[in-house]
Amino acid sequence: MHTKSTEEKVSKKEKLKRSIRKHPAIFPLAKKAYSFYKKVDYPVSYIRYHYSLARGVPYTGTMFYASFMHEPREPVMKNLLKSEIARDPKNPYKILEIGTWGGASAIMWAKTLVEMGNPGTVFCIDNWRPYPSVELQRMKEGLKNDRIFKLFNHNIKMAGVEDRIVPMRAPSNTFAPLLAPEIFDMVYIDGDHTYNQFKRDVQNYGKCVKIGGIVCGDDLEYYPSEIDLEFTYKNSEDTRDNLTDPKKGITYHPGVVLVVHEMFGDVSMKNGFWAMRRTKDGWEKVTL
Ligand SMILES: C[S@@+](CC[C@H](N)C(=O)[O-])C[C@H]1O[C@@H](n2cnc3c(N)ncnc32)[C@H](O)[C@@H]1O
Repeated sequence: MHTKSTEEKVSKKEKLKRSIRKHPAIFPLAKKAYSFYKKVDYPVSYIRYHYSLARGVPYTGTMFYASFMHEPREPVMKNLLKSEIARDPKNPYKILEIGTWGGASAIMWAKTLVEMGNPGTVFCIDNWRPYPSVELQRMKEGLKNDRIFKLFNHNIKMAGVEDRIVPMRAPSNTFAPLLAPEIFDMVYIDGDHTYNQFKRDVQNYGKCVKIGGIVCGDDLEYYPSEIDLEFTYKNSEDTRDNLTDPKKGITYHPGVVLVVHEMFGDVSMKNGFWAMRRTKDGWEKVTL
């Protein structure tokens, strides 16, 4: 199913610009509110983070950008897992996640397994070390002194899913040759988004998906047909996570959109989440 076209997405931005032009008084107010938020966000998240550690509850706030789960994306991921489990409820479902950070997506997968009464496991490959496309200062802070890995361990414990999650700590390339083909029911790829590494991850771990299983990932905001491919290829060699098309004004993940386009062509995609099912001869779309 197609999401909204680029035209509609761009025009949303345009609509916002127009309404600001129509009600100019809102602009300075919105600017003030934003700068106030910027000032208080760090101290508030700092307090919430330490409070969560002390109280023994999971922390998924903006300190270290502890969570990358987005409200519209999460139900799509959850529903796909539920419907996959329902196809064979007794099969202990095995998920491989590449890129776990503070554990938000892994916890969501694990809680869904529990909710479905499935005895499955989530295997998490992540080195929890600096990587090329990490750009945000708060993430860099999380990588100092192993803070984010400690937070991941805290979060899975406090979420009550420690026994469902197996951390595999190393760069993703290290594990690839050690894993047998066709062993996972689902492989979720959300590690380094640079073109070359993302491609290696999809090639290496796509093989580990069982026939009938799912490969999926995060951060595909646009279909390749919606972006300027020439411009994207020109800018795909650098290590940036995001790219803004100067003509259309849209921001997207160049590595993800190009690799998905090259490896699968037209994919199933909803709210930035993409997925494909492995068949005997290749890959087919799924309902999201
Ligand atoms: C965007 S975060 C993942 C977010 C997580 N899936 C969530 O939803 O909260 C990307 C993660 O990929 C990991 N990563 C990046 N490059 C990697 C590599 N080459 N091997 C293993 N992990 C990597 C980073 O350490 C980071 O934790």
